Amino acid sequence: MAMRARGLALLAFVTMVCRPCFVSELPRRSLAAAAAAGSVALALLKVPGPAPASALVTKKPPKPVVAQDKSFQPVEVASWAQASKGQPDLVLGLRGDPYFLLPGKDGGALRNFALRAECTHLGCLANWNRVVNKFVCPCHGSEYDDQGKVLKGPAPQSLALAHVELTETQKVRLVAWTEEDFRDGSEPWWAA
Ligand code: FES
Repeated sequence: MAMRARGLALLAFVTMVCRPCFVSELPRRSLAAAAAAGSVALALLKVPGPAPASALVTKKPPKPVVAQDKSFQPVEVASWAQASKGQPDLVLGLRGDPYFLLPGKDGGALRNFALRAECTHLGCLANWNRVVNKFVCPCHGSEYDDQGKVLKGPAPQSLALAHVELTETQKVRLVAWTEEDFRDGSEPWWAA
């Protein structure tokens, strides 16, 4: 539950602070509820600032989870594709962390991988900037391409990956990525 609260707080933080950067939004009622809940969570958990880089490192792969929207509802692929309007959008994913789901290529609804939204510099949440087609960190300006590969520092690494699968009922499930990073052939730093 603490993970959920933390994830919600992070989502609410980004939504409130970086609202102009968002390319898609949930319905106003959900957003308002998330913002209100997130404000409480922020106050209780004291997580508005950047997390230390060491906090990003996980050793044991998290269990697969069905992604949740800002109202804690399971994300269904068709609904997500319609609401996101062809742009990356945030969900709650592994360990309750915020992940970007990505629109599919060549007519597909969804890419088969997702990106953890935490910047690899100091843990601020990167935003999708549809104008430049990059993820941009609002804290110190790091940039990542549309696959989360780092383009500009001070971020030292690319955004963490997760596999995306569909359940039998077309819900979006995230699964830990423990294999080689397909973007540069490196070992996955987030699984170290
Ligand atoms: S936390 Fe993202 S650039 Fe510093």
